[in-house]
Amino acid sequence: MTAGEPSTQLNSGGHPSDTSGMRIPAASPAEDGPPTGATTGGRHRRGAPPRGIRQTDPTHQPIPLDILASLEVLPCDVFLGYAGRYVLYAATGGDARDVVAHAGGNAELAIRVEDRDVLRRGLSRSVGRILGDESRTPVERSRRAYAAVGYVMSPIFKASGPLDRDDLEDATDAIDALVARLSGMDSLVWSMVATMSKHLATHTHAINTAVYAVLLGGAMREFQGDSIRDIGRGALLHDIGKNRIPLEILDKPGPLDEEEWRRMREHPTVGHRMVVGALGVEPSYAHIISEHHERADGSGYPSGVRGRAIPPDSRLVAIADAYDALTSARSYKPAGSSYNALWTMRFQMRGQFDARILEALAALLGGWKALRRADVRSLELAAAV
Ligand SMILES: [Fe+2]
Repeated sequence: MTAGEPSTQLNSGGHPSDTSGMRIPAASPAEDGPPTGATTGGRHRRGAPPRGIRQTDPTHQPIPLDILASLEVLPCDVFLGYAGRYVLYAATGGDARDVVAHAGGNAELAIRVEDRDVLRRGLSRSVGRILGDESRTPVERSRRAYAAVGYVMSPIFKASGPLDRDDLEDATDAIDALVARLSGMDSLVWSMVATMSKHLATHTHAINTAVYAVLLGGAMREFQGDSIRDIGRGALLHDIGKNRIPLEILDKPGPLDEEEWRRMREHPTVGHRMVVGALGVEPSYAHIISEHHERADGSGYPSGVRGRAIPPDSRLVAIADAYDALTSARSYKPAGSSYNALWTMRFQMRGQFDARILEALAALLGGWKALRRADVRSLELAAAV
């Protein structure tokens, strides 16, 4: 968002088709022979490939090596793309890291489509371990955890129908693990911020907003324990209602017309309804979803409530949401700097955000002077290239 852009465009979000959680390479036949099979962990391909499955067969889904490397134990069979087919490469229960190490960087590994839920559950349970793995640098841990959470979240941001309860719970389990690990681990938090994608897509925006919100909540005394967990969950799911908004509206580069804008304003209410519908009860974080576009000066939606009538956690997530939107690139705008985002929120959008929480975010990001210096430095570096 540029300085003069109306706030109504702040959270128009990304393209739902970008929410697969990972970039899945197009299936293509392997040109070379298969790499040596992994040496441990279950059945491996032996001799001639068994009856394979063509890679164009929709019954298999390619999986990035990074995703498999995030696991310890394979929760499902893994297949190798070989001569236009998928052949069994390593079986359930195998050592995931060993499989990846032996597969080689160019190997195309895949799982059966029906095993996607099993893999997501395994990844969801691995997020805490990934972040706590001290054999890796904080940046490596952050990158793997970010990819794992993105993969776990992929079905809930692609679902145009009702949300699946298990998918939703896998996603909230993953973000809970992230919240638990990020609390009080400064180097990891900043590594996570540094490795977050700044190209706005719905699923990356959801994770980024959750990370900023948890970071900010952790820096403010009034948010602790369960309230931080709810901030993480609410922030992760804040835009889930955009699943129901047509792509022509979400992707529209120009201003929305009255009818489009009416549809856009429904997404907080729709998202709230989707989550309550999936769980059968109203979870303690659901109000954050319905209130993340309410504004302190009453200019927000859907209710137009103002000031302290908006709960503190919803006010906080509104700030994390706007900050990530302003500092992320979209097809029609480059990523904004931290300083410009905070300046826009403080002055151009004056009155819309809780001033105390916004001040806490500025302090967390290094203070106004430090931000200014950092921006000047980055501009100088850019000019020197
Ligand atoms: Fe939103």
